[in-house]
Amino acid sequence: MADFETVEVTTDLLIIGGGMAACGAAVEAAHWAKKHNLKVTVVDKASMDRSGAVAMGLSALNQYVGMKAKGRSPEDYVRYVRNDLMGITRDDLVYDIGRHVDGSVHLFEKWGLPIWKDAEGNYVFEGPWQLMINGESYKVIVAEAAKNAMATLGDNGSIYERVFITEPLIDGDRVAGAVGFSVRENKFYVFKAKAVIAAMGGAVHVFKPRSTGEGLGRSWYPPFNTGSSTYFVLRAGGEMTCQEVRFIPVRFKDAYGPVGAWFLLFKSRATTALGGEYMVERRPELDNWAPYGLVKPIPANLRNYLMMLDTQEGKGPAYMRTEEAIAKIVDSVPDEKERKKKLKEVESEAWEDFLDMTISQALLWAGSNIAPEEKPSEIQACEPYFIGSHSGASGAWISGPEDLQNEKSKASYFWGYNGMCTVKGLFAAGDASGASSHKFSDGSHAEGRIRAKAALAYIVDNSAQPKVDSAQVEELKKQILKPLDLFQQYSGQTDSPDVNENYIKPRQFMFRLQKLMDEYAGGAATQFSTNKYYLEIGLDLLAFLKEDAEKLGAEDLNELMRCWENIHRMWQAEAHVRTVLFREETRWPGYYYRSDTPKMDDDNWKCFVNCKWDPKTEKWDVLKREIFPLVSENK
Ligand code: FAD
Ligand code: ADX
Repeated sequence: MADFETVEVTTDLLIIGGGMAACGAAVEAAHWAKKHNLKVTVVDKASMDRSGAVAMGLSALNQYVGMKAKGRSPEDYVRYVRNDLMGITRDDLVYDIGRHVDGSVHLFEKWGLPIWKDAEGNYVFEGPWQLMINGESYKVIVAEAAKNAMATLGDNGSIYERVFITEPLIDGDRVAGAVGFSVRENKFYVFKAKAVIAAMGGAVHVFKPRSTGEGLGRSWYPPFNTGSSTYFVLRAGGEMTCQEVRFIPVRFKDAYGPVGAWFLLFKSRATTALGGEYMVERRPELDNWAPYGLVKPIPANLRNYLMMLDTQEGKGPAYMRTEEAIAKIVDSVPDEKERKKKLKEVESEAWEDFLDMTISQALLWAGSNIAPEEKPSEIQACEPYFIGSHSGASGAWISGPEDLQNEKSKASYFWGYNGMCTVKGLFAAGDASGASSHKFSDGSHAEGRIRAKAALAYIVDNSAQPKVDSAQVEELKKQILKPLDLFQQYSGQTDSPDVNENYIKPRQFMFRLQKLMDEYAGGAATQFSTNKYYLEIGLDLLAFLKEDAEKLGAEDLNELMRCWENIHRMWQAEAHVRTVLFREETRWPGYYYRSDTPKMDDDNWKCFVNCKWDPKTEKWDVLKREIFPLVSENK
């Protein structure tokens, strides 16, 4: 076996991930851990300053309830989210984040994040719920605060960066920690913990990306998040929810630049090549998806769907009419001199929107001679992603807060600690927790804070350190490092180390996964359409792939990480395919279309579809869970 030192770390709370949710968790954990003299450990596969989805920065804080500033209540936010998700959401979870998110925003400002202000000193809103920021250094600022908070714990606080977590440790019905390996040195890590917060983000590259060749890593969702949250909770025996609710954003083509500022701040129209405005011309189609199709804003998947109907009819490409939007803003200024100033201002805001969070889009504009005030830019639906914090909903099924439950919901939505999965001591936040969409970066941070408080309460109540079986750890070490051994043993047999009958390299393995998902589970190749027959073949192919996962080969530590990233993706894929197969209706056209059950069916399917995998029997179970609305339809 490859020569790796085993490093054991014993802690009370283990926070896995270093993104928005984990940083929120670290800040709050430091506060409560100090009170109880408890240890907190954070582990990130990358460097927290620039890890996760906010790595490049962002241009907006997409969730601001504005309880004081706007006099709105979290109930208003629940209504917005529930409609956007076509009725499928956990009101208690969305409400809970909603009542805490403004607090995270105010903390960010205190820590130095520049939030746009108008002449009167009020926040500048991008849309009804979104605040504009100068966000290039957003992640650095949030990580710095998390690190500072952890530092106040002294020896009771530790941070491990560049350690990839592969597998949960379990003691009976309780989580006992996690194992992983350093991606820089030959070290195998065993983290023993009383409670664990899984916050490893969502998943990308499960489906074939539209980018190819050297551009392969350019996708909307960051290539660093590879389904580890889903894998971790599933392997611990935890129940997952909304695994069918993938997210497909419409983005500026090829570099995946954001559209929010264009639609909401600059009030741009989108049209297809023949000049038609699909959101206007296709409006009657929305009746078919009532009541959700008739709300404002129109749900994200339906906005996608109307565009897709146009492009499928051959009317594409679709364009963001940047030139028209800029002209309209500038023309609204009466004075000519002022108009020139306004033009410069809008131009720089347009470029900054990309430079703040998707620099590659600014490069593409520059490289292809696009001046947004002169010509429109192509937009396109991306490949599917798993991101429970945005307009998708996939993630762990977690307990809600007790005070928000009613008689009916309590038995289903509450089991003791806020945000705990169906496995004792295991918590999930951000992209890792499901059915609570539209929390975005700041809501994920707020959710992390909520989780840490509950996890520490759990530790105080359950203070015994769970047992970790050393033989099981040895076995895991062997399995996790096996790709290195396989490569070492067989790579000399062929001229090219990438082609060998005794192992499969992670890149090739990933291509196989992506091809089968693309073709059988409704990727871009099939215009996001699938049916029972395709899905069943997809499941068969996934079973073969799982067999071959035993033969993954890794040349070095980086490839070892790639091997495990792809195993995590494969489990995310299986959870998705099984859930799409189970839900016999089409509820989110624009995200996916079940061509054999093309209509929405509220009578039978206005429910959550959950799934779980039993670590003892290794069998999957897919099941329905009831929805209990806690917030009324109307104000
Ligand atoms: P992340 O912040 O992605 O963090 C995940 C963490 O897990 C990372 O630190 C990663 O390194 C770590 N990790 C992953 N796997 C492992 C493993 N196996 N072991 C150890 N660590 C691991 N929100 C807004 O509010 N405004 C915006 O303008 C906005 N724009 C966005 C633009 C893009 C392109 C994207 C992708 C998202 C955007 N969002 C925006 C959403 C926001 O980024 C997410 O909601 C938020 O980052 C989710 O937080 P998280 O902690 O769950 O995941
Ligand atoms: S981002 O995550 O990359 O910033 P995006 O730019 O799509 O996302 O959207 C930012 C915010 O604006 C999200 O809250 C999204 O739901 C919202 N949004 C984007 N486009 C529209 C639209 N046409 N109508 C209503 N809301 C929109």
